[in-house]
Amino acid sequence: MLNIARSTFLLGAVVSYVSAQSFVSDPLVDKSFPYTAIPEHADTHTDGRGPQSGYNICNSTTENQDSLCQTGFINHLDDFCLFAPPTPNSTIGDSEGIEVAWCTKKGHGTRLIPEGALQGVQLVQSPGYIEIVGFIDQTKLNVQDGDFGGELDSGGQDGRGNPIGGLMYTNAFPSNNGDNSTYQQGRHWTFFIGSNTFCAKICDDTQPNAEGLCQHIYDRVGCAYNAPNNAPNGTFQACQGADMVPVGQYVSDGITTTWTQPAQETIPLGTIPYTPTPAASSNCVTYTSASLYTDLASVGVTSSPANPSATGSGSSGSGSGAGASQSGSGAGASATGSTSNAGSAIGISLVSSFFGVLLSMFLFY
Ligand SMILES: *[C@@H]1O[C@H](CO)[C@@H](O)[C@H](O)[C@H]1NC(C)=O
Ligand SMILES: *[C@@H]1O[C@H](CO)[C@@H](O)[C@H](O)[C@H]1NC(C)=O
Ligand SMILES: *[C@@H]1O[C@H](CO)[C@@H](O)[C@H](O)[C@H]1NC(C)=O
Ligand SMILES: *[C@@H]1O[C@H](CO)[C@@H](O)[C@H](O)[C@H]1NC(C)=O
Repeated sequence: MLNIARSTFLLGAVVSYVSAQSFVSDPLVDKSFPYTAIPEHADTHTDGRGPQSGYNICNSTTENQDSLCQTGFINHLDDFCLFAPPTPNSTIGDSEGIEVAWCTKKGHGTRLIPEGALQGVQLVQSPGYIEIVGFIDQTKLNVQDGDFGGELDSGGQDGRGNPIGGLMYTNAFPSNNGDNSTYQQGRHWTFFIGSNTFCAKICDDTQPNAEGLCQHIYDRVGCAYNAPNNAPNGTFQACQGADMVPVGQYVSDGITTTWTQPAQETIPLGTIPYTPTPAASSNCVTYTSASLYTDLASVGVTSSPANPSATGSGSSGSGSGAGASQSGSGAGASATGSTSNAGSAIGISLVSSFFGVLLSMFLFY
């Protein structure tokens, strides 16, 4: 039982916390924007985490190393984008709301990934999604050395996405019929970056279970669980693959069971009851990075501090399971998966624990 004075204090603190994180009535994941009708801002909210920090209409005038474009693509091994912080030496947890697109090719109105940042990349195209995982020097993408990173996705603690208003498109879904000049939006997508790795997946909304294959509530268990893969470091390859088992599902004694990450980040993960297995892949074609990333040679590492408004950041205190702050990444297969798991367990920030405790007391109370 809380005494009155204390509960009043807690209630005040919690109410402001909860309202800052309240879930919007028009979540990003429900918004369909044809490629030809992308708005300047996919997110138009101004309260809570503040307005969208960048923009979604990206063109030749926004194509530079200070770009705040927040529209990304996964088209092909030589043509994809990552979300990473706008300013150097940032953690993913602190910058999740304001991250910007960095691409391998000119033409998307974004920053380019600096040469040497990509150390190994594997793209897998399956019936339900297109996925890309890789090894990076994350400091070249403004991510602080040693940051274990976290998850960005079209969900987010308030439904506004991370980055807020971030959109993903591809020209590789079957409905495109090989026409590279048109793009389909994937409303369900997830992206992990940190520990010098990344994994990104855009699910095809026209296929069954896009939501399950791009589930965004498993932010603490990294790439090993969200995008199980056999990607080798130092190699650049494009493969075909089968769909993975929906994130969190596993078969035990012939019965399909679902493990759900604890909703509250203060609850330890405990022992996860399964080890994910990469889905079958085939027809991998290997390339040299020099043949793939011809636009990157001229791009230096330094990014002048663009210093976008600080709004939208500071969300590392999120009590939601969909936030980025507390997760591990780890694009590697199961070997690094356990590392990322351990990393996530020790990665819970004091701030988020504090708010998590407040929130749990509030709910309990
Ligand atoms: C280019 O993008 C900027 C930023 O989104 C936008 O303000 C401008 O209108 C765009 N220009 C064209 C010609 O579409
Ligand atoms: C990055 O930030 C950390 C923490 O503020 C600091 O200790 C470190 O020196 C910074 N590194 C660089 C390269 O600026
Ligand atoms: C579309 O892009 C893919 C990947 O770069 C390429 O293999 C294919 O030939 C392109 N299709 C057309 C019609 O240009
Ligand atoms: C990938 O390989 C590069 C080059 O050998 C190495 O520097 C980097 O540490 C490796 N990345 C990981 C995550 O093991």
